[in-house]
Amino acid sequence: MPISFTVNGKPTTVDVPADMPLLWVLRDILDLKGTKFGCGISQCGACTVHVNGAAAHSCMRQVSSVAGASITTIEGLSPDGTHALQRAWEELDVPQCGYCQAGQLMAASALLASNPNPTDADIDRAMSGNLCRCATYLRIRQAIHHAASMPATLQGTQSSPREPSSEEVR
Ligand code: FES
Ligand code: FES
Repeated sequence: MPISFTVNGKPTTVDVPADMPLLWVLRDILDLKGTKFGCGISQCGACTVHVNGAAAHSCMRQVSSVAGASITTIEGLSPDGTHALQRAWEELDVPQCGYCQAGQLMAASALLASNPNPTDADIDRAMSGNLCRCATYLRIRQAIHHAASMPATLQGTQSSPREPSSEEVR
């Protein structure tokens, strides 16, 4: 069935089964491969995107549930990779294998949008749904602090706190 929403600012209509996970719509129908599949059961955060500005696990979102919504993926976090978090990630060499990092950045950007100066505890809480098998957690925390110290103009405007969802098993 045709379902319409906005992806990275672009009005989009897809004709797919209503229960298809948003993750597969993004990757396989819209060819946005930055959002990753890790577990498929809302346990790892690799598939994190923003739905109406809130962080959400796209593997557990049926596409019909985002009809009319505004979706942001890692490709849309900034036009040219210069969001404060992307700068900080690069400066501090955060990624190791990189597989989890798009999801980490989307969760972190939602955190900074709601809490521009998070404490370690705030960061640990906000990032608890995003696992990293390479254990880059300390650099992620440092990079979030570093991004928070950058001018507000670099923080991006599309994010907000994690959206509570009954579909997500945390
Ligand atoms: S793929 Fe692991 S939370 Fe979605
Ligand atoms: S950098 Fe390898 S899983 Fe996080």
